[in-house]
Amino acid sequence: MNERVVLSAEGIVKRWPNGRVVLDGVTLSIMEREVVAIVGANGCGKSTLLSVLAGLESVHAGSVRLRGQPAALPNVDARASRQEERVLRAHRARVGLVFQQYHLFPHLTVGANCMMGPQYGLGLHVSEAAARARAALLRVGMHEAFDRAVTELSGGQQQRVAIARALANTPEVLLLDEPTSALDPQRTREIGALVRELASESATTMVVVTHDLELARDVADRVVFLDAGRVEAELPTEQFFGSQDAAIREFLAHA
Ligand SMILES: Nc1ncnc2c1ncn2[C@@H]1O[C@H](COP(=O)(O)OP(=O)(O)OP(=O)(O)O)[C@@H](O)[C@H]1O
Ligand SMILES: [Mg+2]
Repeated sequence: MNERVVLSAEGIVKRWPNGRVVLDGVTLSIMEREVVAIVGANGCGKSTLLSVLAGLESVHAGSVRLRGQPAALPNVDARASRQEERVLRAHRARVGLVFQQYHLFPHLTVGANCMMGPQYGLGLHVSEAAARARAALLRVGMHEAFDRAVTELSGGQQQRVAIARALANTPEVLLLDEPTSALDPQRTREIGALVRELASESATTMVVVTHDLELARDVADRVVFLDAGRVEAELPTEQFFGSQDAAIREFLAHA
């Protein structure tokens, strides 16, 4: 196993209860300090794949590893043992996922949202958790909002807090699900700038799902093109955008 691989998935198969296959044997590796963009049409399985990588979705087959350690993914057909649940919790704490619709806790303040992971996921003392939360909020330009209610914030501000919440755990890999899709053009530019900044920090290992191909082109070292639950292509960014492959050209023409 290559020791530079941070996160990998192998042969992931997932069907919804209605029998529809959403992930059809996905294999993927994310290398240390690499920024990977996942692109593909609506409904091709991008969000589901990120949830699987983060250890939040059950699967029918396949495995996810973090630095070679199996994540003990929940299998839809089996109950997890206590040991497996412990391994899975540890996996979730080390992988930062920012959801497409933020999913902040609306009844908590900005600070409390960002302290949850350090406190309960990493088991840190409350003062250390608060320090981590403040540092993460500073990185996204939201440190002055520590005591504010999440519900008072605009969409762009909530997205910043959602990113800070993931960063507060100092994740080994950051997974961003369409960080700009729910925002107006001005906020899209601002969050785009933040994502570009995070991606340019040399220690960042990041996977970003996006419909914003300009953003993908700017930040990604590699592009993974997902189509109907399969990895249709996986190419260095410049090669992806210059590809003559019919399916890629078709996607780029309509994106
Ligand atoms: N709980 C569920 N039960 C059944 N089908 C689901 C469920 N969640 C998602 N789906 C379907 O699975 C497919 C993949 O969903 P997913 O959210 O992963 O797609 P996506 O690539 O992220 O799409 P988008 O670009 O719109 O965000 C979609 O067709 C969606 O309707
Ligand atoms: Mg999605």
